[in-house]
Amino acid sequence: RTFRIAAIPADGVGKEVVAAGRAVLDALAEDSAGAFAFEWREFPWGCEYYERTGTMMDEDGLDQLKDFDAIYFGAVGWPTVPDHISLWGLRLKICQSFDQWANVRPVHFLPGVVSPLRKADDTELDWVVVRENSEGEYAGLGGRNLGGRGPGGEVAVQSALFTEVGCERIMRFAFDLARNRAHKKVSSVTKSNAQQYGMVLWDDVFKRVAADYPDVETESVLVDAMSAKFVLKPEDLSVVVASNLNADILSDLGSALAGSLGLAASANLNPERRYPSMFEPVHGSAPDIAGHGLANPIGAVGSAALMLEHFGLPDQAARLNKSIEATTAVGILTRDVGGTASTEDVTKAIIDALNA
Ligand code: NAI
Ligand code: MG
Repeated sequence: RTFRIAAIPADGVGKEVVAAGRAVLDALAEDSAGAFAFEWREFPWGCEYYERTGTMMDEDGLDQLKDFDAIYFGAVGWPTVPDHISLWGLRLKICQSFDQWANVRPVHFLPGVVSPLRKADDTELDWVVVRENSEGEYAGLGGRNLGGRGPGGEVAVQSALFTEVGCERIMRFAFDLARNRAHKKVSSVTKSNAQQYGMVLWDDVFKRVAADYPDVETESVLVDAMSAKFVLKPEDLSVVVASNLNADILSDLGSALAGSLGLAASANLNPERRYPSMFEPVHGSAPDIAGHGLANPIGAVGSAALMLEHFGLPDQAARLNKSIEATTAVGILTRDVGGTASTEDVTKAIIDALNA
């Protein structure tokens, strides 16, 4: 069957890593003897588009995207456009409009990659951070210039939204995931000692949902303590479920602990499959290295593997992940993980390893 994919490379290294992921997926399809194929359409949206047109994406952009089987996204943001405009105008707009309420971010060690945590050889790290992706701290509620305290006294409010339905669906998602892993555990993260409304609701729902999964071990950890636990007791974690902001921060920490932000993959899922899901590396547009072939493509290629799973091609996803491991194991690494290889070198090595 043919899967129709909308590619949105957007900005900076997003363009480089989306090209890498496409090359790897096309190599897989070519090798499948017609079993599956990918039909791509690339969209030019992003900060350059904004500077030309005044919008981050076409006005009917969501309509243009809604019938694709998936969206393959690079990264959005460039120093010429304020970040809150670029993020809300493209990535968050897609996530929220297509109700991609579950953001899945696996974190694990790769062979040949030195991690700041890997001092002891037996340290294991194999987590999935499950991020509530539709509400919480990124609900967009609040405003500027609220109340008048005169010049220099502006008041702004940024509220977080927690709904029982939103909490429950992300927790059931996390528990279902944990149930199918070797380490059956869900750790819930809040700051419910200081944030006494929404996050206490979160804790209440967590307790209620946990009762339906007696086979899964649970814990509730405050986010500050969890950030320490990530470093000090990584082997104690399996599935970590957290609100939008907390999971955003923790997953960057997790990917750095695995070796680099450039390694981290993610899926923004609409689990009901009413709208397309979106697959993207966790990292941003990396203006400091963009355009020089230095970007690590593994986060984007790993996101392509998550897309293959979503398409019901788990064997192909596993094959792709094995090729990534075969590449890092022999030391073909970009600069962020201590090597000298270019984006293209790593991409080519992954493609070669597919058939090894
Ligand atoms: P960033 O993730 O772009 O970069 C942070 C650091 O990680 C930089 O030193 C960068 O060189 C490095 N890095 C990132 N990706 C890499 C890769 N593939 N290979 C090697 N090194 C890599 O985060 P930053 O600098 O905070 O944000 C830059 C722009 O990206 C901003 O405009 C921000 O809003 C945007 N952004 C977009 C995201 C998205 O589209 N999902 C996520 C995070 C940031
Ligand atoms: Mg982030």
